[in-house]
Amino acid sequence: MTSRRQMLKTAGLATFALPALGGGFSTSKNPSPPAEFKSWDEVRDQFMLDRNSIFFNPGTVGVMPRVVFEKTTEHLQYLATSVAQWAYKDDNKEQFISGYNNLLPIRTKVAQLINATADEIAMTDNVTNGMSYIANGLDLKEGDEVLTSNQEHSGGNSSWKLRAKRNGIVYREIEIGKPIRSADEVYNQVVSAFTPKTKVLMLSHMITGSGAILPMKEICAEARKKGILVILDGAQTIGQIKIDVKDIGCDAYLGCFHKWIGAPCGTGFMYLQKDLSPRVWTTVASGRWEDHRDEGFRFTQRGTGSFSLLKGLEAALDFHFNIGPEKVYNRIKFLGNRLRDGLRSNQQVKIFSPVDEAMCAGITVYKIDGWSGAAMQDEFWNREKMRPRSQGPEYGLRHCTHIFNSEKEIDKAIALVNKLSTENPKS
Ligand SMILES: Cc1ncc(COP(=O)(O)O)c(C=O)c1O
Repeated sequence: MTSRRQMLKTAGLATFALPALGGGFSTSKNPSPPAEFKSWDEVRDQFMLDRNSIFFNPGTVGVMPRVVFEKTTEHLQYLATSVAQWAYKDDNKEQFISGYNNLLPIRTKVAQLINATADEIAMTDNVTNGMSYIANGLDLKEGDEVLTSNQEHSGGNSSWKLRAKRNGIVYREIEIGKPIRSADEVYNQVVSAFTPKTKVLMLSHMITGSGAILPMKEICAEARKKGILVILDGAQTIGQIKIDVKDIGCDAYLGCFHKWIGAPCGTGFMYLQKDLSPRVWTTVASGRWEDHRDEGFRFTQRGTGSFSLLKGLEAALDFHFNIGPEKVYNRIKFLGNRLRDGLRSNQQVKIFSPVDEAMCAGITVYKIDGWSGAAMQDEFWNREKMRPRSQGPEYGLRHCTHIFNSEKEIDKAIALVNKLSTENPKS
């Protein structure tokens, strides 16, 4: 078999030493529970999630730990009862509304999560919001090309399509595999699509409809040589796998916290590396729209928002750090791997997540022969009160695993898939 290095050399694409291409950093070994808990069952007790159902869809919206719910509602109550105490003297210290406060303590925690600095972080509502800031804020001229894949979420690619229609930039999609067979395969597909007109590469770091972790460090290195900006959609990665933006070498990274971090909905961030941020116009403008002293604050100032949600976000970040990010990522991967192993032993099941386990973490997309995603989703709920999410007629289910799940829940899901695969398919 041709080695990865050999393949890349043959393609004339790399002569450097390659670390684990596409590696999701986490291992498939079950981590011990965090020190303050006797078991992962005790970690589960930190969530209010109804015990009568099993949740497998944090890829859409996650589960708030109890402390997140409490901190959010505590603050809402404080607002409702005590707003008269607010003298409105220093919007950077007082925590009544967001949108005027520089939010440095929270931006510092977000920066720590992805190995950036606080001035490189702006708070947003979600990924769609952050991507729109970048797509609308970059000076691109007619004919400049934005390259992306055929498997992006509309929250990531729509703002670029809008720019194409409005300003005549070229929006082009690369076909990537489903499943992706190897990191080399997708690396070659992406870098061989670069042209002299390519100015921006926008990709999901983890593909929403397959859970594939793309080899972005290697792709970024190649893009950098060609002067192409790399913007990453991290909607599915934040809280699921380790992210180090400096190591990856991207120019921008967008994330949300309401999926894998378990924060309230409507919390996200935009990372812009220092050389790029001064070049990005803000789309939502308030008093600091051209104040470049704190670039993250320039974008964070965007009119009145909810501080209660940010209180919840801060609690969610603290919860994540207290459990231990590495333990979280490894537990997610361990459970995802257990599911994939179980599914692989059934010949009737087709898996759309990458063939290479190093490119996978907590998202598995699969289909039972002949069954539609909607029918599988219905049977999961009606028979066992389990909630993965349909991926439509072609791709079956997207099934996410998180630290509030257990081995027992995974095994129950595998048993149901095995049973369904012996029955008449429903579409
Ligand atoms: C890859 C990807 N990008 C963007 C989004 C949209 O995220 P948000 O709702 O935070 O804007 C999603 C949501 O599922 C996603 O999976």
